[in-house]
Amino acid sequence: MPTTPSRRKFIRQAAFATGTLAMGASAAASPVPITLERARKEYFGPNDQVNLGVIGAGGMGVEDTKTALRIPGVKVTAVCDLYDGRIEAAKDIWGKNIFTTRDYRELLARPDVDAVIIATPDHWHREISVAAMEAGKAAYCEKPMVHSIEEGPAVIAAAKKSGKTYQVGSQGLSSLGNEKARELFRAGAIGQLVYAEGYWARNSPTGAWQYPIPKDASAKTVDWERFVSNTTKRDFDPLRFFRWRNYRDYGTGVAGDLFVHLFSSSHYILDSIGPQQIISTGGLRYWKDGREVPDVLLGMFDYAEQPGHPAFNLSLRVNFVDGTSDSTYLRLVGSEGSMDVNWNDVYLRKNLSSDPMDAFSMGKASEDMVSKTKRKVMMPRDQVTWSAENGYKGAHYDHFQHFFDGVREGKSVVEDATFGYRAAAPALLCNDSYFEKKVVNWDPETMKLM
Ligand SMILES: NC(=O)c1ccc[n+]([C@@H]2O[C@H](COP(=O)([O-])OP(=O)(O)OC[C@H]3O[C@@H](n4cnc5c(N)ncnc54)[C@H](O)[C@@H]3O)[C@@H](O)[C@H]2O)c1
Repeated sequence: MPTTPSRRKFIRQAAFATGTLAMGASAAASPVPITLERARKEYFGPNDQVNLGVIGAGGMGVEDTKTALRIPGVKVTAVCDLYDGRIEAAKDIWGKNIFTTRDYRELLARPDVDAVIIATPDHWHREISVAAMEAGKAAYCEKPMVHSIEEGPAVIAAAKKSGKTYQVGSQGLSSLGNEKARELFRAGAIGQLVYAEGYWARNSPTGAWQYPIPKDASAKTVDWERFVSNTTKRDFDPLRFFRWRNYRDYGTGVAGDLFVHLFSSSHYILDSIGPQQIISTGGLRYWKDGREVPDVLLGMFDYAEQPGHPAFNLSLRVNFVDGTSDSTYLRLVGSEGSMDVNWNDVYLRKNLSSDPMDAFSMGKASEDMVSKTKRKVMMPRDQVTWSAENGYKGAHYDHFQHFFDGVREGKSVVEDATFGYRAAAPALLCNDSYFEKKVVNWDPETMKLM
């Protein structure tokens, strides 16, 4: 039986959930945000020190590590990267005494590393994740968990066998905004879910992955042979090394880079294991710089009924040539309202009546207005916004808090290997659908192609 929540249940629980929520004309008239708060424990014991190794200390590796270090009791002891400039930068930030290497196996062999951050390009995620867990380390691996769907089962098996904490890095799902959306959805805030949509719009060279190439980039400062050692062998090419997202041997296109965040959040909010049918289309419209992947991509996904939600459709898009905006959103649409969800806020809208003809109502207008205009007036919609407290440390911090709670206390994490694979797979299958011009059928339960 589907457990799709009812409206009655929503009204009952909403008051409990927020303490102050009152849907009605007053909410419509003054949509003052309701504050989302997080209680935290900032304590760690003397035996809880976690020594961290960083594998891939580029843009996200540095951001991840800086965030991890905000959690009390975490220390960087080792860094692995294939470009000398990154190694030098890591020493500048975390001290000359840290161990550094170009070979991740040397880092994993060290007893002074308890946990690793894996923030290499996507084509290294599987191999390093499996090796880290086999070496007895906990691992935080950036999204997407794997580079191709064939790679998922090995990571899941290694996580099960090692018993070590393994978390994938779609940090948004640990946010206050995603948590509130999940609570509201379960409480029936939008009635029966029928449709969801999300997008990512950008309009800049950096946004479209045209990163600067360092002046000293050469086959000496970059360990190119190692970079391509698990994929097609080619001569040194700085564009491929520093703009790896544009090439299919290393990156996973806009779907693996960005759709995967939207899958992770929506699967968490809806308690979903994923879609059963995947179709995508798009094209390389603008950034014709030799890249092998589209800069505009549209994906459509059919979700069958699952214990957490009814059958619904999801539509996702990424546009790197969007002259009007530079933004992202996720919207869930149901029979009684819709929710726009991001990491810090949830914006809930509901019509006062579910009958569209009732949206124009004499009964709700003031007597004065009716007599002057003799026309019906449009009723306002109820809208309520929840916003994160001032000083909220953010989704990224919360995601690392969850990771270290797993490492220190053995708590399970939401975005484990199975969750990470179920978010990555439909994103990766978008690429198959796009390049092979086909509909892809996927069994989200068994995690196999159909
Ligand atoms: N969660 C997020 O919001 C988010 C944001 C950006 C990137 N990411 C993910 O983080 C990962 C890294 O992306 P980035 O933008 O930081 O790329 P980047 O190019 O800035 O950094 C990657 C680093 O990995 C190093 N590297 C490559 N192969 C390696 C190997 N075999 N061993 C050790 N180091 C290696 C490179 O030298 C480089 O310094 C990607 O998987 C990406 O999808 C996640």
